[in-house]
Order: sequence, then structure tokens, then C-alpha cells
Amino acid sequence: MAKEITCGDLRQEHVGRTVTLSGWVNSRRDHGGVLFLDIRDRWGVTQTVFNPDESEAFRGADATRSEWVVSVTGTARRRPAGTENPRMSTGEVELAATAIEILNPAAPLPFELDSENLPDESVRLKYRYLDLRRPQMVRNLTLRHKLTRFIREYLSDREFLEVETPVLMKSTPEGARDYLVPSRLHPGDFYALPQSPQQLKQLLMVAGVERYFQIARCFRDEDLRSDRQPEFTQLDLEMSFVEQEDVLELTEDLFTRLTEEVTGKWIFAKPFPRLTYAESMDRYGNDKPDLRYGLEIRDVTSMVAGSGFKVFASAASSGGTVRGLVVPGAAGYTRRQVDDLTALAQGYGAKGLVWIAVESLGDEGGYRSPVAKFFNTDELTELARALGGESGDLLLLVADKREIALDVLGRLRAHLGETLGLADPSVMAYAWILEPPLLEWSEEESRWDAVHHAFTAPLPGQEELLHTDPGAVKAQAYDIVCNGYELGSGSIRIHRRDVQAEIFRLMNYSDEEIDARFGHLLRAFEYGAPPHGGIAPGIDRWVMLLADEPNIREVIPFPKNQAGIDLMLDAPAPVDARQLSELHLQVRLPKEGAARS
Ligand code: AMO
Ligand code: AMP
Repeated sequence: MAKEITCGDLRQEHVGRTVTLSGWVNSRRDHGGVLFLDIRDRWGVTQTVFNPDESEAFRGADATRSEWVVSVTGTARRRPAGTENPRMSTGEVELAATAIEILNPAAPLPFELDSENLPDESVRLKYRYLDLRRPQMVRNLTLRHKLTRFIREYLSDREFLEVETPVLMKSTPEGARDYLVPSRLHPGDFYALPQSPQQLKQLLMVAGVERYFQIARCFRDEDLRSDRQPEFTQLDLEMSFVEQEDVLELTEDLFTRLTEEVTGKWIFAKPFPRLTYAESMDRYGNDKPDLRYGLEIRDVTSMVAGSGFKVFASAASSGGTVRGLVVPGAAGYTRRQVDDLTALAQGYGAKGLVWIAVESLGDEGGYRSPVAKFFNTDELTELARALGGESGDLLLLVADKREIALDVLGRLRAHLGETLGLADPSVMAYAWILEPPLLEWSEEESRWDAVHHAFTAPLPGQEELLHTDPGAVKAQAYDIVCNGYELGSGSIRIHRRDVQAEIFRLMNYSDEEIDARFGHLLRAFEYGAPPHGGIAPGIDRWVMLLADEPNIREVIPFPKNQAGIDLMLDAPAPVDARQLSELHLQVRLPKEGAARS
């Protein structure tokens, strides 16, 4: 039954040849006695035509319905002039059918595979094997394949070894909750699924592999979002005898070539812009800025500290800040439009939002604002200039603690970028975010937490600061970000036992805990660990952006829904009592109302 031609292949050059097409009945049209079946497979759709003269074939075709699996044999011919379909790659030709074999009928589908009229996502996920028949999903699967294939070739050409690491592992801290697997042979003991192969790739460096990569599945039990799944895939890579610059260069070259050679996307800026973490927070309000547009946030605290407007003056005098950004050309916004922006800002956690419409900038300046009465024209002009505003623009200002003001303006910025159409979907604005803090203080647990992860090295020369001012230590860590998403993270690692132990102590692990959880790594560091570092871009997020999809479920063949459920398999699901007892487990369900939803 091997196919010699796909449903996407037929062209003029085949005219006159007898061929057999196998696939699914994509559509069926009855045109006054002549039957048209469009036959579809992964590669395309071809029109087949059944004439009543070929009575047996005609009867066979007449019996078929949507999504039946068939083989159609016939002669390729040009479509009559005027009936060509330029939207189909096979649109100049058709097959004059002489025979049809029905390989398998199909029940009526629970939804139409027409991308214009898709049902609720839950229906698509329940019948994912049908959803995946849609050309858009085929395109996403194909893009994903091209990406991993390119990565494998690129890294193999540069002496990287693809090494598999275990999925049954030990609980490791990567910031999320672990998925646990009970051991049958060792009652009461559990494996943990890796949140990433972080420690194993470092052990591979101790093993002398020097250049490692893996298309690795990672598992994290955390709250799901549109860019998060409980299991996802990383391009995990690690190199020995490198500095940060080496990892950045390799990654940037891979990202550039892959984007340009595998996809039709443009790269916004080459080389990728580099921002420090602090700079990114100050200018964009977060550590994964969308750089496809400006709308930068600026600090105007000192300028408004002495103003008669209490909200600003008191923010300034109480250690807070006043920050703002410019919405270009929005001076004409209606009351309703600025109220909507205010409500949005409040939803993000602001106490309010000050807006100033710059009708004309300068001496005879015209400004419209609820707070205009607190400022004279010169002050408003100075404020507008400081924010980078021009005549016709709208200024938005938030007074609050630094973190809140930046977070709110960062989110307003993203909202405006999207709604004003500034975020060109054909562009990939890759950028590096460098020098994040190594540690952050956790009030809740009263201990230091690693910002990236516990294996990240401090910036050279800052080891001493660890004893005196841990919060001021910067990390040799880097994120690659794109269009408002964090695509990947990495760092130069600690390779000395004493420094690593010091970090674990700052994180409040006792010596026993350090030994129980990280003994393997610390021991390995005693036997000649080379300096090393790496990175792990998330494949799902990367494909999501390259495929213009709004969430990562669209580029994962069999994803879980937002509640972590696989609707097709109906997982997670109860297991029978015998399985539980073999695993030495007993289930205690939560009280009424807290049961599984
Ligand atoms: P990190 O935890 O930052 O680093 O993860 C790296 C990248 O993996 C992707 N990612 C996810 N994608 C989908 N769903 C999730 N739940 C999810 N969580 C993370 C993101 C992210 O940027 N071991 C380190 C890397 C290193 O230091 O080399 C690590 O895992 O794209
Ligand atoms: P109020 O004094 O609360 O009536 O607020 C006057 C104006 O200032 C309103 O437009 C509020 O939205 C705005 N506002 C209030 N608090 C803040 C704040 N923290 N930052 C920016 N604007 C604010």
C-alpha cells in the first residue's frame, strides 16, 4: 500500500498519468451528477472527480462521507479553464477517478476540522488525534520537527554529544514542586521526575564530556499559564572551559541561523541587544521586555516631589517613586479610553493612574489632565520632555513603591504595545538580560533563595560579598528573551566545593540536608570539576513564537489543559487497589469539596 504520490504532489507534469491517492475525504460535493471528493493527507489536498459513466467508482464515492479513509485511482488532468484553484498547491489539476477503495469508514466527527469554526479547546483536546489532522497543526508539528532537527545538526557539527539523562531521578530544587514516583522495591521511597537535567549535565562536565546537549523533557508541578505546561521540552546544553561570552555567542549564532534558515521571521536587532537585569526592570518594568517597540518607562520622582499633588509628593517623600511612559498620538483619547486604562492599571495593582494629554508642547503649551491644576505650564512641559512626550501624546504616570510602579507600567506597556499594533508578529526581538542578582531574601522562609538556581556562580570577584552583603551579589547568569517571553536561562556554574557549600548554607540548608540532597554533586566537585556553564532554551515557547500561536498547547501534540488534565486520556486518574498496595501507598482524599475537579 506504499504511497507513490501524496495528496500535495499532483502538478501539471503529471497530466495523463494514472496515479493512486490515499488519504481522508476532506470534503464531498455533488455538482449535478458529477461528484467531487477532495482527498487530504499530511502533505495537501487533491480534487478527485467521479463521473457517473464510471458507475462502480461513482457508487463507491457516493457512499463516502467526511473523513473516510480511501484510495482513489484515476488519471491526472488539467482542470477546465476557469476552475483552477490558486489557493491549493494542486489547484491546476485534478484526478479523473476510475476506481475507489474504501479502506475504513468514519463516524461523523464531533467537530468540523475547519479552522474558522473551531469548537471550545476542551473538545479539541479530547479528540486531539482529529485536531492534529488540521493543516495548521500539521504545520506546527512540522516546524517543531525542523527546529529540533536543525538544533541536532548544528550542535553535532560543533562536537556536542547528545546524552540522555534519567527521568526517574531524585528531588532537586529548581523552584517548582516535584512530581514524585513511588518505589515498589523500596517502600516509602520516591523517585522525582527532573525539573531539568541541571545537576546531571554538570556531572557530565565532571565526567569530561565538555560539550553536551539534550532535547530534554522536564517536569514541574506548578500553576499553569499560557506559556507553561507541567511537562515541557528544553534544549539543554552545557560546555566546559567556557566563559559567559562563549555561551552567549554560541546560543546567539544558533538562534540567528535557526530563525533565518528554518522560518520566515525577521530578527529585530543583530547582534541581540544586551541589557542588565536592573536596566530592563527600570526601562521596561520586567525582566522579559518586548523590544519590538519603545514605550520606555522613565523616572520623574525628583521632578514632581515638590508638587502640590499629594499623591506624587507623598510617594516621593515616603521612599516611593513616580514613573511614567508616553502613549504616542493618544492625546485625543476620550474620557472612556483613559478610564479604561486607569481600571486596567488598578487591576494590575496600582492605586490609580494619572494621565496628561499633551495637546501642544512648549511655551503656549496646552495640557489636559485631572491634575493639571497642581502644575504650571513650564512644569508640565518639563515633565513631558523628561518622559519623551511630544505634542499629540498622552502621558501616563503611576506613583507607588518602586516594584509596584514598575510592574504596573510594564504591564500597561505590554497591553499598549499589543493594542496599538506596535508588536509586529513577523519579527523576533531576541535580547539578552544579564547580571541578575544571585540571591533574593525570602521573608516567608527567612533565608536567601537563588534567583536563577543554586548552582549559579557569582560575578567574578564578588565571592567575598557573599559573606558581607549577599543581596548585592550579581550572578553570572543570562536569560534570552523574545517578544515579552523568557525563552531560555543559563549561567556559569559554581565548580568549587567550598563556594557551592556556602551558597547552600545561605539558603539555610543544614549540613545533613546538604549531604542528603547534594552530596553527589559536592563529592563530584572534589574529583576535578572543570569550569563550566550552559543554558536551556524552552523549545515549546520558542516554537510558539515562531509559529505565531497564542499559547504553548498549540505546539505540543498532546498537552494538558489549564487544570493539568489530559482530556483525551483522562489523566490523572485513580488506580486500582492492587497497584496502590504494591507501591505501599494509601490514598487519603481531601475533605468534602476539595475533591478532584
Ligand atoms: P529555567 O528553569 O529558567 O532554567 O528553564 C529554562 C526554560 O525552560 C522553559 N520553561 C518552561 N516551558 C514550558 N512550561 C514550563 N512550565 C516551563 N518552565 C520553564 C522556559 C525557560 O526559559 N536548568 C536551568 C537552565 C540552565 O541553567 O542551564 C533551567 O531549567 O523557556
Ligand atoms: P484621588 O486623589 O484618589 O482622587 O486621585 C486623583 C487622581 O490621581 C486620579 O486620577 C487617580 O487615578 C490618580 N491616582 C491616585 N493614586 C495614584 C497613584 N498612586 N499613582 C498614580 N495616580 C494615582
